[in-house]
Amino acid sequence: MADSWHRRTLEHRSALFAALTTAAISIGGMVEIAPMFSMPIDTTGISNYTPLQVAGRDIYVREGCYNCHSQMIRPLRSETLRYGTWSRAEEYAWDRPFQLGSRRIGPDLMRVGGKYPNAWHFEHLRDPRSTSPGSIMPSYHWLIDDKVDPADITASINALRRLGAPYPADLDVAASMHADAQVIVDNLATAKVTVEPDREVIALIAYLQHLGVDGRKKWGDGTTADAAPVGTPAEAP
Ligand code: HEC
Repeated sequence: MADSWHRRTLEHRSALFAALTTAAISIGGMVEIAPMFSMPIDTTGISNYTPLQVAGRDIYVREGCYNCHSQMIRPLRSETLRYGTWSRAEEYAWDRPFQLGSRRIGPDLMRVGGKYPNAWHFEHLRDPRSTSPGSIMPSYHWLIDDKVDPADITASINALRRLGAPYPADLDVAASMHADAQVIVDNLATAKVTVEPDREVIALIAYLQHLGVDGRKKWGDGTTADAAPVGTPAEAP
């Protein structure tokens, strides 16, 4: 059978084919990226991570939570109804690197902060099946025994400083972490959960409880009709 037109004129000319493919893909990229540069980015109200939250974020990355969880709510009604108001560029201002994720084996975590009590997170990380029957999320029980070393977090904070994060020069990382951890430990005690403040689980809870909270304060929770952008479907699929 004779080669088709497509094969003869395009696929057999690898340089031309590569150039055309690149052009086609770039158009898609430009259509998505260009509007972003024309939008005003205003980070007012989007707070930087505290040292304890930085520790939690490091654990989130180390444990690969991003393999199952995204942190990006798309401006679609079905997403905003489930997860809250859609993600804005400025909300990632302090995320280095971004934790957008590419898979949702579990739910999006962009606005999980404040959704559950601390004790729920503690139990869920210890044994996901205890709070969410049938869950396929693995147990992270070692986070209850393993300790966070403030020296590691000081190193992380210094790295973030070099990337432009405005941490004060006289920041006492260990003291700040301990104070913030104690608040969570005291709160867990009211739910009869006993845990030491230097444990990794506390840092991870601090991080999770911060996710999306500032954005929700700034733009509302996204459940009202006027929070949905123009042109999105009225009905969730
Ligand atoms: C194998 C995939 C997988 C991995 C890895 C994973 N999760 Fe999950 N996660 C899930 C699934 C599925 C659910 C939904 C059922 C449930 O609540 O357990 C979930 C639920 C959650 C929820 C509740 C979300 C909500 O809105 O109800 C949180 C918080 C969470 N995961 C945090 C984490 C953290 C932190 C890590 C890393 C330490 C992690 N997950 C790793 C699959 C995963």
